Amino acid sequence: MLTRAPLSSLSLLVVTLLFIGQANAGSSNSLLDVSADGKLLACSNRDSGTVTIVDVAKLEKLREIKVGHKPEGVSFIGDSHQLAVAVYADDLIAFVDADRGEVVGQCEVYDEPYGLVSTRDGSRLWVTLEYPGQLVEIDPRSSKVLRTLKAGAFPRGLALTPDEKTALVTEYLTTTVRLIELASGKEITNVPALATDSLARQITVHPTRPKAYLAHMRSKVNVAHGEGSIFPYVSVVDLPQAGATEVSEPLKRKRMPMDSFIGALVTANPWEISLSPNGQDAVVVFGGTDDLFVCKVRDDNYRELSFVRHINVGHNPRAVTFSRDGSMFLIYNALDFELVAYDTETTQKVGSVKVTDNPLGDEILRGKQLFYSALMPMASRRWIACSSCHPDSDADGRTWQNPEGLRNTPPLVGLAWTHPQHWSADRDETQDFEHTIRGPLMQGRGLINGAVAASLEAPNKGRSRDLDALAAYTNSHTVPLSPHAKNGLTESAKRGRDLFFSKETACATCHSGPFFSDSNPATKPTLHDVGTGRSDPSEKMPLKYDTPTLLGVYRSAPYLHDGSAATLRDLLTTNNPADKHGKTSQLNSQQVEDLVEFLKSLPYEDPQPEAVKAGLKKVDR
Ligand code: HEC
Ligand code: HEC
Repeated sequence: MLTRAPLSSLSLLVVTLLFIGQANAGSSNSLLDVSADGKLLACSNRDSGTVTIVDVAKLEKLREIKVGHKPEGVSFIGDSHQLAVAVYADDLIAFVDADRGEVVGQCEVYDEPYGLVSTRDGSRLWVTLEYPGQLVEIDPRSSKVLRTLKAGAFPRGLALTPDEKTALVTEYLTTTVRLIELASGKEITNVPALATDSLARQITVHPTRPKAYLAHMRSKVNVAHGEGSIFPYVSVVDLPQAGATEVSEPLKRKRMPMDSFIGALVTANPWEISLSPNGQDAVVVFGGTDDLFVCKVRDDNYRELSFVRHINVGHNPRAVTFSRDGSMFLIYNALDFELVAYDTETTQKVGSVKVTDNPLGDEILRGKQLFYSALMPMASRRWIACSSCHPDSDADGRTWQNPEGLRNTPPLVGLAWTHPQHWSADRDETQDFEHTIRGPLMQGRGLINGAVAASLEAPNKGRSRDLDALAAYTNSHTVPLSPHAKNGLTESAKRGRDLFFSKETACATCHSGPFFSDSNPATKPTLHDVGTGRSDPSEKMPLKYDTPTLLGVYRSAPYLHDGSAATLRDLLTTNNPADKHGKTSQLNSQQVEDLVEFLKSLPYEDPQPEAVKAGLKKVDR
């Protein structure tokens, strides 16, 4: 009964003890969660589409359960052995009985469920929906969405404060932290970051101090160079008094560079930070350098963390959590499909568990390991991996100052069908990214044994198994269907489709075929001057660009090679003053909106069968 009493009626001492005993009870989103009784651990396996249940004491795999495509956040519900899993690509929350190993129910959500936490009493689940920018409240008993709250742009990380009155939500691309009061559903305040802060996937709250911790990167887009562009960070945010519904002063945010501890190696792509139940230890895992830092949490409001030890782990560690008694921490090495446990006190490895079989095949797995690696032969300075800018095939939402001009990072979905690559179509095969590996950005040794052909036309395919594997992985991403067309095209989108295919706007002359692009592997690229690029004094290429696919543009702002169009409406209006990019000046405001609706609905069907029918060929590697 004690745990169910309203917290305000308990004395401070009891509250403190309560949190020490109960810290992390599903209070922070992760790919890992330990049940309240400490016996079971659940991990979600994105590539396999499963959740694995592990016996914590024996470090043994008990069972593995299929839940759907790309599961992300997982949490035990209250103190039960029932689990909730955010199935990202299927837009649903799966409910799993961890003892029986069965899916026992599901709850549909609008799009991209990512972070998921349960209240301690198990009566509510909270879930971040990434693309629509929402936080939803779910009743696990009825499997119903009770409320949908606004939560900024691309929210991923999610934690509840110990009094469970406030949710902390982190934006993926900006790392802004939003504090949302759950009773009213209103944002109390937010903690902005620097424009360079990027890619925060998770946030965790200290069990007793009013502090939240988030691991993220920093991307300095004006330096496309291995020594100055991408850095690993942990930010510590001061939280307001428990139960505050208003905050007048901006909350303090301290940013700690994870490459500045004396005696520690440089690390890349911090993926998650976890605190021990007593709040004294912290572990940060780095998905790019395949390692972790063990730190002591300091109670000084100044340095916050002190470095204890660096440990090399397996491929692409994405999550870390502590056992309930705090005696060990467990690392999820995503690209070894393995959990590894370490003793908290000695930091020695105590065991490991294979959680799932490699579902990718040997070649794609090798390619994926290379894509996520900031180590040799990919990079010599340990700061940058391909995945620093293209994590899980997504764009980083940024426009980089490259030597040839401003270049917006494109998502890699559908890439196999839309070669050549780059906005200027200078790369005809993905193996040409050997130049990126060896160039100033990554300064790696490279994957080809010997020299790379200086000309981009000379074939690099077939010269290195690893490079071919990297290409195979990079070309493997399919395009998810747009949530805007879940119930088919809306009336507005249908009117937009007619405009898109009309002779007058002429959009489909270049954005043709199932991928809405005249760029495909079989034909010589046709570059087009659509009036863009003139405002960038650093542009070195002729002002003609490769037609990009329009599939998935609903979630890939900003637009154009230089990121100069913030929205699709801007692209069709202020960014097209001379009607050089299709003819749009004759459209009234409603027609522009209709055209935007149509663009946001792409793709509303899988483009691949159509592409095969049309005789298009894709590139496998
Ligand atoms: C610093 C961020 C960054 C890193 C690191 C990075 N990329 Fe990119 N990538 C970009 C940007 C920006 C573009 C657009 C450049 C252009 O078109 O000229 C791009 C374009 C691409 C494209 C072309 C996509 C298309 O649709 O045309 C591919 C493929 C790609 N990158 C793969 C890789 C691989 C493989 C690596 C690692 C070897 C890598 N990238 C490393 C930022 C990055
Ligand atoms: C003459 C060929 C051509 C025509 C006609 C054309 N486009 Fe484009 N489109 C391009 C090219 C080339 C780019 C890339 C330009 C750049 O990045 O500077 C582009 C970029 C875009 C983008 C940005 C995609 C992204 O990922 O950033 C959108 C959206 C788009 N076009 C929609 C349209 C619409 C809608 C029409 C009709 C009103 C249209 N285009 C007409 C060639 C064309």
